[in-house]
Amino acid sequence: MAKFEKHIFVCGNVRPAGHPRGCCDPAAKAELQVLFKQKLAEHGLKGRIRANQAGCLDQCEHGPTVVVYPEGVWYGQVTPGDVDEIVQSHILSGKPVERLRLADNCLNTAHCEHRQRS
Ligand code: FES
Repeated sequence: MAKFEKHIFVCGNVRPAGHPRGCCDPAAKAELQVLFKQKLAEHGLKGRIRANQAGCLDQCEHGPTVVVYPEGVWYGQVTPGDVDEIVQSHILSGKPVERLRLADNCLNTAHCEHRQRS
């Protein structure tokens, strides 16, 4: 069996309401990951591109957070309506969706102007 060409890790971490860091899946429904899997299947990418439910990716204040490897492109504030665009543009055409992309200097820092919560 061929190895996967890419992995899409979708944070599905759930924290209690009112937690200071929030969480990426307050409804605990894994909606984004399910949608990624559906869209990948629709485009015939099952077995080539894998969408995995992930625990906390430690970029909670930018959530819901998604990261695509091997290129290491991070997305923040991803909504269900963004999933098809990420699959079409990034996965199929190799063009990351810039409007959703987290800049490298926004990752793993306590101080970022784009954070939803601080
Ligand atoms: S809860 Fe999603 S990145 Fe931490």
